[in-house]
Amino acid sequence: MNVEHDGKALEAARRRIAQLRREISRHDELYYRRAEPEISDAEYDALVKELEQLEERFPQLRSKRSPTRRVGSDRDENFPSMPHSVPMISLANSYDRAEVDGFHQRLTRALGHPPEAYVVEPKIDGVAAALRYENGVFQVGLTRGDGRRGDVITENLRTIGDIPQRLDWRKVTAILDAHSMLEVRGEVYMPLKEFRRFNRLREEEGLTVFANPRNATAGSLKTLDSAEVARRPLRFWAYSVAVPPPAVFGSHWRELSFLEDLGFPVTAERRRVESLEEVFESLDELERQRESLPYQIDGAVIKLDDTTVWEQLGSTAKTPRWALAFKFAAEQAETVVESIEASVGRTGVITPVANLRPVELAGTTVARATLHNQDEIDRKDVRIGDTVVIEKGGDIIPKVVHVVLERRPPGSRPYRLPTRCPSCGSPLKRLEGEVALRCLNPLCPGQQRRAIQHWASRDAMDIEGLGERWIDLFLEKGLVRGIPDLYDLSEDDLLELEGWGERSAANLISAIDRSRQRPLANQIFALGLRHVGISAARQLARHFQTFAKLREAGQKELEEIADFGPTTARSVVEELERRRELIDALLQRGLFATVAESAPRSETPLAGKTFVLTGTLSTMDRRRARERIEEQGGKVTGSVSRRTDYVVAGENPGSKKSKAEELGVPVLDEKEFLEMLEKKA
Ligand code: IVH
Repeated sequence: MNVEHDGKALEAARRRIAQLRREISRHDELYYRRAEPEISDAEYDALVKELEQLEERFPQLRSKRSPTRRVGSDRDENFPSMPHSVPMISLANSYDRAEVDGFHQRLTRALGHPPEAYVVEPKIDGVAAALRYENGVFQVGLTRGDGRRGDVITENLRTIGDIPQRLDWRKVTAILDAHSMLEVRGEVYMPLKEFRRFNRLREEEGLTVFANPRNATAGSLKTLDSAEVARRPLRFWAYSVAVPPPAVFGSHWRELSFLEDLGFPVTAERRRVESLEEVFESLDELERQRESLPYQIDGAVIKLDDTTVWEQLGSTAKTPRWALAFKFAAEQAETVVESIEASVGRTGVITPVANLRPVELAGTTVARATLHNQDEIDRKDVRIGDTVVIEKGGDIIPKVVHVVLERRPPGSRPYRLPTRCPSCGSPLKRLEGEVALRCLNPLCPGQQRRAIQHWASRDAMDIEGLGERWIDLFLEKGLVRGIPDLYDLSEDDLLELEGWGERSAANLISAIDRSRQRPLANQIFALGLRHVGISAARQLARHFQTFAKLREAGQKELEEIADFGPTTARSVVEELERRRELIDALLQRGLFATVAESAPRSETPLAGKTFVLTGTLSTMDRRRARERIEEQGGKVTGSVSRRTDYVVAGENPGSKKSKAEELGVPVLDEKEFLEMLEKKA
């Protein structure tokens, strides 16, 4: 054996594995936490598959922390979290019938005979939730989180009418003797029609729109204000029982009927079938129904009906062996490229976008598709006037699959990206090691537009009401040239523009003003430093506590932070330097003045205590109050119970205050609450 050759292969595998792990983690963050995926599910699955195969071939390179061994995390630090009663794992995906056949063969071998029955159900494209009932009363609702712990989103789930608050407990105990706890799992989703209406409203209000119903659902569930969640058209489908274990039902089909009997919505499209052939028929049937279903599905789930053997069959780190997801191919459509536009991103990256003749695709009208970069355009040879096949990768971002060459108009020429920035005219450069062209002019209005959009976004400064439409208008009118100008805007400036009244102007100015109080982590994230997503920003804030200390830090100190490799550390130093003028201008306007707590302090009076907030506080909004409580190790829940330690009552408190008094829970007024926050142990 050629040792040197092997060494080289190993080295190449090590590099590719590291690259894949980074790439997959980034997409996990985009998908689960930010609900802003950049690639389709199929592309994502292809990356995971490649990684799995490499790890299989090179066992010495396996790692417990590899994304192949854990599910992507949607944990959000704005919510308290709790361990799951049973891990909430994911499903193995398949894209063709041979893989379904392989699944059937594996089960046949493991059981010693072909399975007697399967249940085939729609795979609903939403967000998983676990609902815990104690003695028939809905107590706690969790997201999947990282599979082991989930975020507590009980109050948000309570706003969903499909979720029963109270079950007919006699029905439960008639079937399951004396189980005082029941945990139901299912998918929260937004029906397509409601999703479109909801997005239209957002657009009218100048807010950013969601790319698809799943993102709208994920974003809604992570909203901190339950009253706002109640306005979102969310629904729920139940698909399993986690506690007691499904084995007690003997069959998954019966498990679903039990749920339906209790008043949970269960999809009518489910089928119980008795052979592999019938499984395929059900898959076909679902794929045909797909277009006409009122909600979005991205495939089907095939489950072994006999739940008594589920445990014995077991699961891998991520997925059970008794179930398989079958993903439908992305829906495609044909249309014409009317023009190609080069759009400028917030870091100056130029992305070519095809303007398409509008066409219906997977329930929405598509008029644009990204072409990524010049390499991609060359590879597919997309030209203006071409007829192209487009698809929504996993129903998300539309993209061009290929050109229909037979329909190419005569005389067309290959498309080249411009050599100058379409927004400011400065020459574009291709940086070393990058495929993308960039505009390097920091004052470029195209970049500023995107930078301001990012600055105003939810995880950043969360400036409600500063939508794309208004940003464009402010730039166009010269009212704003960069982020700092936002903080110089006055109500009078806005009143001079069409579409603004006294109230809306006052609201926006106060939202901008309030943004100065955003936690340090969000302000750091808002700067849009390369390689610094919201979780890295949180680590920076926690580590340095003040912006001044972060600014002074060198690469070495940054590398000391867990998860910060040399690349991220270098990038932080360089990017802060690059934004020196911007940062100075923002400091002058009172930004970056908030101080982060190091780590939740266990010795504060708030540590381990549960708070409920009611009414309006004069010194901070609710989000900030929650953050301050959590910074000191306390937690905030939505409803008062005997387990609540304190209720903080501001102006015009609701019924929560009287409930607290009834139960003998101490009520703090704003002054007492502030004193408690200030009290150092
Ligand atoms: S059963 C062990 N059934 O798909 C996991 N999941 O990609 C059991 N999903 O996390 C899940 N529809 O959020 C199941 N009918 C269905 C489903 C379904 C959608 C989601 C679920 C799961 C994800 C896996």
